[in-house]
Formats: sequence, structure tokens, C-alpha cells
Amino acid sequence: MSTHSQNAPSVTSLTIRAAKGKRKLTMLTAYDYSSATLVDECGIDMILVGDSLGMVMLGRDDTISVTMDEMIHHCRAVTRGAKQALVIADMPFMSYEPGVETAMKNAARLFQEGNARAVKLEGGHDVVPQIAALVKAGIPVVGHIGLTPQRVATLGGFKVQGKTADAALKLIEEAKALEAAGAFCIVLEAIPATIAKRITESVGVPTIGIGAGKDCDGQVLVFHDLLGLFDRFVPKFVKQYANLGEIASKAIGDYKAEVESGAFPGQEHGFAMPRNEEDKLEG
Ligand code: KIV
Repeated sequence: MSTHSQNAPSVTSLTIRAAKGKRKLTMLTAYDYSSATLVDECGIDMILVGDSLGMVMLGRDDTISVTMDEMIHHCRAVTRGAKQALVIADMPFMSYEPGVETAMKNAARLFQEGNARAVKLEGGHDVVPQIAALVKAGIPVVGHIGLTPQRVATLGGFKVQGKTADAALKLIEEAKALEAAGAFCIVLEAIPATIAKRITESVGVPTIGIGAGKDCDGQVLVFHDLLGLFDRFVPKFVKQYANLGEIASKAIGDYKAEVESGAFPGQEHGFAMPRNEEDKLEG
């Protein structure tokens, strides 16, 4: 179902920023042309080419090994399918942490080669210089705090963050620092709902929650999680709106059975030769 009108204006970082307090924002991941087309036509505001692709598309255990070349490859496919949604590319592990110069070089590649129109990077005060430099150079940036999967090794696993008063205060300060650096929105991942609400009230840019309660300015989910296409690891915060895995599995099983029994292909799936030409072969 397409909810976007042909002439609807493209979503930009400015549209997103201006939506705070006026309407809820939607973000969903996509990693290829077909899924991006689907997501875009449903009117989702932002498509995130997340480094979660390392897990749901490439079958790895975490996001750490995702490379710039992989991100660019998937980003190009997504941007061919997204006509109106704002396409945001995740900056992979170690593509921005070393410093401003590295971040600039890699964000420029995601823009120029991947055709992304914004980038997302994980971290708090430590990435403020990178965000400020990117924004100054004309690259819109989404921040990401709370559970930051690229730091899973130092966080001790995929764990809820901000559960002590000190940790919660630190998150609020980090969100303010990201806003001051120029981030146009901030993803809050796996933090208590009350803290996400406080953060949302403390900053002037939209917060986009994932496992952060209903009071964020918007929500984000992973495409495969929402559709029930990835069941190796389903976090508590995921709502499966469909079980496409089950539907696909039944369809593939039916196909196998019909090929094996000879029921597929039917006459209607094939091509006929004109009778007179066929007669020539016989004669
Ligand atoms: O990589 C990703 O998909 C993400 C979202 C979970 C926010 O960062």
C-alpha cells in the first residue's frame, strides 16, 4: 500500500528537526532496493541503512566487522528504491572513532558513493568533534546513545543502559552535547522509558527510540525484526507485526513439493509454439 503521493516533498534533516512536538516520526532499516521501495512507499520518514545488516543480512554475530565498502554497497541499493524518505547511513565501527579526519573522509564516501543524505554514528562526548565537523561540512548527523552495539565488547553485552541515577544523568548530558554539536536527531537505544522521556524533554531535537519507551519523538525498528524474518535473536523491545518467515517457509515448501510432484510448472506458466511450426518439426 502506497501512502506517499507522487509529488510529496522529500524528507530532509530540516523536516525531521521541525517535526519535534508536532507529530511522531518513523524510522525503519532497509538494506536493499526492494525493501527500501516498500518502506518508502509506506511513507516511513527515515530509512536507516543500519550496520545491523552485518547480522540480519550477512549472518554475523555482531556489527563490528561491517566495512565501509559493505555499507556503500547496500546504501546505493537503498537509495535507488527510496524516493521520498531520508536515507541515513550508519558509519561502521572505526570509520569515525579515530578522529575528525577519518570521520570526514568516510562520511564523504557514504554521501558521494553511497548517495546517503545523512549519517549516524554512535557515542557521546567522545564523538562531539566529529559531529561538529561533519555538520559544518554540510553532512547531517544522527546521534546514537544508550546501548551502542559497536561498543558491545566494553558494555559487556547487549544490555539495557542508564539504569543507575549516575548513568541516567550521563545520558542526559550526552544527548545535550550531541544536540549542541549539531546532530539533527538522536537515537536512544535500550534505556529505561522514564530516562528516555527526560532526555526527550531536555533536548530541542527529536529523539528516536528503540527499546526506550513511548515518549520519544519517534521510533525505529529493524526491518527483519518487524516482519518476523530474523529469529536468531529477538530483543524484548521488538514487536513483530507479521511473521513473514513462516509465510515464506510455507511458500518455499509448497514450491519444492510441487516441483517434486510435477504440479509446477503448469501449462499457464509455459510458452507454446505455433501449431504449423511444430508440424514442420514432425514432418
Ligand atoms: O544498525 C541499526 O539497525 C541501528 C538501529 C537498531 C538503530 O543502529
